[in-house]
Amino acid sequence: MNIKFQSLKLENFKSHQDLEVKFGDLTKITGDNAKGKSSLLEAITWLFYGVDPLGSKNDPTPITYSAEQTLVQALLNVDEKPLLLGKTLKKGKASYYINEVPKKATEFNELIAQLFDKDLFLSLLNPNYFFTLKWENQRSMLLQYVSAPANKEVLKQLPEVQSEKLGTLLKKHNLSDIEKIHRENKTSLEKKHIAAQSRTKTLKGQLEVFTIMTPVDSLKVELAQIDKQVREKEALMDEAFEKNQAYNKCQSELRNIQDQIDMSKERWPSLKNEVIEDTCKTCQRPLDEESVEAVKADKDKRIEEYKAKHNELLNKRDLLKKQLETLEYIDVSELREEIRQIDSTGTQLREAIRSYSEFERLQTQVNEAQEEENKVLENLNDSIFVIDSVKAFKAKEAQIQAEKVQALFETLSIRLFEQQKNGEFKNTFEIELDGKPYRKLSLSEGIRAGLELREVLSKQSEVNVPVFVDNAESITSFKQPTGQLITSRVVAGQDLTIEVGE
Ligand SMILES: Nc1ncnc2c1ncn2[C@@H]1O[C@H](COP(=O)(O)OP(=O)(O)OP(=O)(O)O)[C@@H](O)[C@H]1O
Ligand SMILES: [Mg+2]
Repeated sequence: MNIKFQSLKLENFKSHQDLEVKFGDLTKITGDNAKGKSSLLEAITWLFYGVDPLGSKNDPTPITYSAEQTLVQALLNVDEKPLLLGKTLKKGKASYYINEVPKKATEFNELIAQLFDKDLFLSLLNPNYFFTLKWENQRSMLLQYVSAPANKEVLKQLPEVQSEKLGTLLKKHNLSDIEKIHRENKTSLEKKHIAAQSRTKTLKGQLEVFTIMTPVDSLKVELAQIDKQVREKEALMDEAFEKNQAYNKCQSELRNIQDQIDMSKERWPSLKNEVIEDTCKTCQRPLDEESVEAVKADKDKRIEEYKAKHNELLNKRDLLKKQLETLEYIDVSELREEIRQIDSTGTQLREAIRSYSEFERLQTQVNEAQEEENKVLENLNDSIFVIDSVKAFKAKEAQIQAEKVQALFETLSIRLFEQQKNGEFKNTFEIELDGKPYRKLSLSEGIRAGLELREVLSKQSEVNVPVFVDNAESITSFKQPTGQLITSRVVAGQDLTIEVGE
């Protein structure tokens, strides 16, 4: 965008009742104080934005004489195309014209806005304007035209480990999200690490209770031998039980037969001494011989039967006695004691083995806890590393950007960042000349600083606009700016003079 001023026409603008100015590449305005030099710059800013050269609203209606209306008309060349802008003020009411066609305020403002940004235009036109802006706006305006370094460019200048780590993470998230993720990770992993540490410590404490433990393989072999011995003895025990059971059974059968024999013996005397009656018990008459014989025969028969049964019992008893003699009753108390003793030799071994397996279980738990602790610590360190890398990235990015911006200036130093106590960078904006901030500069230093700055803005934005150096008498020399140059100088005793030169 290339803007040139061709001419400016003023009617009843402040002290100017009727004035036409033609501009060249160089336009020199001279005149004594209060001849209306600054008003020419003001006429331009009022026409474009209704403000004075420093951006404040202004009313140029004449106060020293009466006039029907105020008019400012400017003929511009916008990229070689003429554009005639006009604005009148009548009884406080403004009217707008584009190429002599009346336009609404909004249409007029839109056209201006399409041409260039207000702050940029005023900064380019008036070297003092930029510094009236808030520092944040100054900063963003300057940075708007200086591209931020690409991630790749920043990564290239970081230490390799940080660059690799962030390079991978940046494929998925942007820098600020990476930082958010890992800050939250860090907080939760710190808590987790404390918990993991305390668990490991507790388990290690429990493990310390076990005095030096040696592997128990040999003890297990020993115990197996003891168990084998016990099992062998127990087999003997089972055998003895079986024998004793048979013995007891035989003995109880013998006792039973003996009881039956004893009972049988008791019955014998009454059978043997049974009297053979020869008289009827009821009628007292003597019985006949045949009947007596029958009674006798019955008694004999019963005696025979008794004897046979008794003998059978005696035979059975003899048999059982003989059988009992072949059987053996084993006293197991000794064997039992022996088993108890053998088994007791294993008690200590068993305790040692149990204790060792408890030790082993605990040791596994300690190892697992330690592993978990290490893993958490590794993740925590990873997040801390990422956070540090982000910090380093931001610092490097700030440095590169600051260098990029600084490279655009010849005499001014530009501060874009301020390092805080925590090492992080905070945005700031300060323009310094020889180590002095702008607000401390002299009038001429300030103008010179403004000119250098508007040159950078003009070059970077590729917007070429005339520059109006007011009070140029206070500055002995300055570099030829790009675009039209309009200077205004106080010359004592001289009327307002406008000369056009090279
Ligand atoms: N609304 C107004 N109506 C009439 N005259 C005004 C109005 N406002 C300001 N003036 C006067 O216009 C005159 C020109 O002012 P201007 O600031 O343009 O002068 P200058 O040539 O830049 O002076 P200096 O050399 O002091 O900077 C001054 O006398 C000023 O008081
Ligand atoms: Mg002035």
